[in-house]
Amino acid sequence: MSLFITFEGPDGCGKTTQARLLAEHLRARGYAVVLTREPGGTTIGEQVREVILSTRNRTMRNETEVLLFSAARAQIVAEVIRPALAAGKIVVCDRYADSTLAYQGYGLGLDLDALRAITRFATGGLAPDLTFFVDVPVEVGLARRQRGETNRLDQKDIEYHTRVRNGYWELVRAEPQRFVVIDGTRAIDAIQNDIRAHIERALHAQPVDAAHKPTYNLDTEEGRCKMKLVFAIVHNDDASKLTAALREKGHHFTLISTTGGFLREGNSTILIGVEEEKLEDVLHIVKANCITRTRYVNPMPPVMEPGELYLAQPVEVQVGGATVFVMDVERFEKF
Ligand code: TYD
Repeated sequence: MSLFITFEGPDGCGKTTQARLLAEHLRARGYAVVLTREPGGTTIGEQVREVILSTRNRTMRNETEVLLFSAARAQIVAEVIRPALAAGKIVVCDRYADSTLAYQGYGLGLDLDALRAITRFATGGLAPDLTFFVDVPVEVGLARRQRGETNRLDQKDIEYHTRVRNGYWELVRAEPQRFVVIDGTRAIDAIQNDIRAHIERALHAQPVDAAHKPTYNLDTEEGRCKMKLVFAIVHNDDASKLTAALREKGHHFTLISTTGGFLREGNSTILIGVEEEKLEDVLHIVKANCITRTRYVNPMPPVMEPGELYLAQPVEVQVGGATVFVMDVERFEKF
């Protein structure tokens, strides 16, 4: 699964902190996440960022500013975002194309259609699946900003920042299905909880967007070699939790209930067909959910030393785990 999430908002809204916390949360849940920012996020993009933000460049034309932002964007899309999405990762980007419309379009008054055309050229039309608009009143954002370092863009007046904020609201109204508006004046934790709740919903309702489909395709030779079959033998008590977790992450599996086998009795066998890129995610889910397995140990040693533990009976200990085989799928047929 892949998901392209962006964070937007006026200066000082706190979206950078929120983007980082969200990325950490998703990683802890086993997702492969790429966190990046605009302008920047690549070697070339970071150099462009310096040119844009440097207070030495006071004479920069508005058009130059747009083209520089777009140049950095072209680079990050090609170098970071598209490859990550193609590999089934979640991309969290701190600012993206909406910033250009809000800041250079509504803020500086440049033609919105021209900006959209430039953006399409730079990104090849790649749009986010979900955008968090972290909103704060302009005065609140600017007051927060004054505590940190200032850059060339911070030197704009309050009317400019008000136009930017109002511009964001125009964008939200035009695409309410993509934007989630977040009240950024609240405590960091409260905001993050809101964001996580929305992400849960997005993860359950995966968009089937052709541009984001995983590269693996069962109809091509290349796709066939990339597919793996995970054969997991787990304790029955873990099976339903495990299948629920797999389903939640959009993995395909077949549950075969059985007894005996590797884990004595009470086992379930689960077959999971998975693209190579997502294999680690599947193994992580299996590990995290298989906790019930027990094993008999007989610690009675043949020669007792003073103070050594003595147990006459074998004891059952909780060891957790599962038995997992990962197999290459060489041939796939459907009848
Ligand atoms: P940055 O220090 O990253 O600020 P923030 O933490 O608020 O994102 O500086 C980015 C600045 O660049 C910010 O003021 C918004 C502006 N910007 C644009 O004007 N147009 C754009 O297309 C982008 C990506 C950013």
